[in-house]
Amino acid sequence: CGIVGYVGSQSALEVVMAGLKRLEYRGYDSAGVAVPADGGLAAARKAGKLVNLEKELTERPLPTGTTGIGHTRWATHGGPTDANAHPHLDNAGRVAVVHNGIIENFAVLRAELAERGHELLSETDTEVVAHLLAEEFSVTADLAEAMRLVCRRLEGAFTLVAVHADEPDVVVGARRNSPLVVGVGEGEAFLASDVAAFIAHTRSAIELGQDQVVELRRDGVTVTGFDGLPAQTRSYHVDWDASAAEKGGHDYFMLKEIAEQPKAVADTLLGRIDASGSLTLDEVRISASELREVDKVVIVACGTAFHAGLIAKYAIEHWTRIPCEVELASEFRYRDPILDSRSLVIAISQSGETMDTLMALRHAREQGSKVLAICNTNGSTIPRESDAVLYTHAGPEVAVASTKAFLTQLVACYLVALYLGQVRGTKWGDEITAVIRDLARISGSVEQVLETMEPVRELARSLADKKTVLFLGRHVGYPVALEGALKLKELAYMHAEGFAAGELKHGPIALVEDDLPVVVIVPSPRGRSVLHDKIVSNIQEIRARGARTIVIAEEGDEAVVPYADHLVRVPVTPTLLQPLVATVPLQVFACELATARGNEVDQPRNLAKSVTVE
Ligand code: G6P
Repeated sequence: CGIVGYVGSQSALEVVMAGLKRLEYRGYDSAGVAVPADGGLAAARKAGKLVNLEKELTERPLPTGTTGIGHTRWATHGGPTDANAHPHLDNAGRVAVVHNGIIENFAVLRAELAERGHELLSETDTEVVAHLLAEEFSVTADLAEAMRLVCRRLEGAFTLVAVHADEPDVVVGARRNSPLVVGVGEGEAFLASDVAAFIAHTRSAIELGQDQVVELRRDGVTVTGFDGLPAQTRSYHVDWDASAAEKGGHDYFMLKEIAEQPKAVADTLLGRIDASGSLTLDEVRISASELREVDKVVIVACGTAFHAGLIAKYAIEHWTRIPCEVELASEFRYRDPILDSRSLVIAISQSGETMDTLMALRHAREQGSKVLAICNTNGSTIPRESDAVLYTHAGPEVAVASTKAFLTQLVACYLVALYLGQVRGTKWGDEITAVIRDLARISGSVEQVLETMEPVRELARSLADKKTVLFLGRHVGYPVALEGALKLKELAYMHAEGFAAGELKHGPIALVEDDLPVVVIVPSPRGRSVLHDKIVSNIQEIRARGARTIVIAEEGDEAVVPYADHLVRVPVTPTLLQPLVATVPLQVFACELATARGNEVDQPRNLAKSVTVE
């Protein structure tokens, strides 16, 4: 969910609605706002996307005020209806609250409130907070104190932001596990799940820590712990360009973000490889001696970031000879994994907020393992709780389906793998020197792929009425196949599956029927040519059974030509780095197919970009 709070001298409604627009990628099931004004509290809520709320506000305008809160929701408790949309109010309509996260003990609290005569109107866990705040406020007449008292009774993960009609110049926020940042301007202050909501107004931000309550007034910001004691905070400057969160002439954020990939890749490499080909990753604050002790690498991540991890495994094991496991963060956390102080856990997350990944890294640290985060969002929770962080420099990624962040995660993984090799003194053969040279040039190859995508778009449009698309790959091409299938599911809502090409004959080949589109990622015929030859056989096997083959192969690879119904060329790239170029056509394919099917590319149904619940 996305949350915004504002107090200042501008129209709060305008600031909050503009902020929500920037945060809509975090959830778009419903939205709402509340403004204390004229001695009371005005609120509006609407199911569906933000435009529905905008329409509602035009038809039934709220009074103008200079304090306000807003919310855009990704439903957990209760469906996406008007009644379940945030903000939630108490029965007297004096206090309004918005919430991100899950309050686990809400059923108990709800029963208690009902016993005390409160009437709860929605199915959400959030509404109990509004009622509890109203009760506490009636005693304390201090919203921040009421919030602290309420938070101490809540279990689970939450960000809460509230306003009260009796303190119309105050916004109060609270944070446990879910993200919340403060923006400090001249005579105004902001609260948001993400700095994107306020970078148009101020670049000066404060990170809130765990279990902290913040009180926002025009003339300042006060942060305390849930216990009421003054709290330590960290201020920082947001260096993201405000225009980075605009579409910049593209129809969708996703198209813009696909186009930005060469730059994102180059920026992520910048300053990290020197002219002699050695790596400097000063940010990785885990000592060389600790890295030399590592006897196992475990990568945890979700979604697209998990696919980056699967690819990293091939690179890490090949270049460093350290065993590497990759696991979905949500599975890892609850299966009692074997970890100790010699395990290096790498948590990959674009947002730095994914709750499953956060819980996995906490579990790893409890076992004494060192955690290295690969993250795109400065100051977010996952890097803050890790021992070290390597930032990807993709810039803000707004489209829900990840593209440029994925490519930069791959770059970061390669850098970590090479760095581990470097500090551990793995024999630097010619291969490694060549890899570093290739990596330094890779952004140009990504650019080259982007220039040749028109036939891919055309092909995608011609397949718009298909029901299923399969993706096959071997080695690092296998996770690329998984990522290609995920993109298609997310965007085109089609049945799509990725398989290891070698596994085909053990089951999935039964799915192949006449004219079924099958995308095959073919590794370079150079180097480990046996891989290449095996996959060429796999292409023949499916083609013999009627599949329509869409082959992604390196320039100059003539062996695939007779078996490719459609051929997509990518520049010559060593197999381990090939995902950086081979993924791009799959992103373009999914995006175009989704558009052809009339789907919303940037905000696919049911999804949200940052999932801050487990
Ligand atoms: C959500 C998004 C995915 C993303 C995953 C992990 O499910 O829809 O696109 O890959 O979260 O996000 P993270 O921010 O941790 O990389």
